[in-house]
Amino acid sequence: MSGPTNPLHTPLSRRGFLKGAAITAAAAEGLMVHSPAAHAAPVLDPSAPISGNTTISLKVNGQARSVEVEPRTTLLTALRDHLEPPITGPKLVCNAGTCGACTVLLDGKNVYGCSVLAIDCVGKTITTVEGIGTPDKPSPVQKAFLECDGMMCGYCTSGFVTTITHLLNKNADPTLPEIKEACKGNFCRCGTYPHVFQSAQTAAKIAKA
Ligand code: FES
Ligand code: FES
Repeated sequence: MSGPTNPLHTPLSRRGFLKGAAITAAAAEGLMVHSPAAHAAPVLDPSAPISGNTTISLKVNGQARSVEVEPRTTLLTALRDHLEPPITGPKLVCNAGTCGACTVLLDGKNVYGCSVLAIDCVGKTITTVEGIGTPDKPSPVQKAFLECDGMMCGYCTSGFVTTITHLLNKNADPTLPEIKEACKGNFCRCGTYPHVFQSAQTAAKIAKA
């Protein structure tokens, strides 16, 4: 088990990331990315703006959602700031791929939404905490967080719920060390870890019942 995937945890500089974003946009055939800068060559000056909006379709929580983004727009920003109505379950906290508050499931794998480009998610299945369960019909993990008081301020909670959902999808009966390992990419500044881990154990029991 491991924490959410963060492509920025490779030896890649900010300059390299921006170049990569431009190259990805240029390579995104079929997405109608009409950006002269992106098509001409990789961006050489990272301070220059990457222009060119494009409309893409994202499959979010079972629905096809049309959204206008720039090539550099992250999935998290697309969800929170470009969709109408927005999806705000995944939280923007560090915006640097370190805290896990923005965790979503991409084709079933937990990833940091702030570290994935929206255009790279076309054709993939995106599930946010809103798609895992609802207030009327909470998932076993969501029920367990309520039962075990697994949150304080709540900023980290959707990320933990999503990561633990991914864990239980792979391993229905995880040990405490396996739960801790799975959650190592999610941080709680309120220090609610014991209740989070207890929630994960309780969720496994609820799911089995
Ligand atoms: S906001 Fe994405 S990892 Fe912190
Ligand atoms: S409950 Fe506040 S950051 Fe985790």
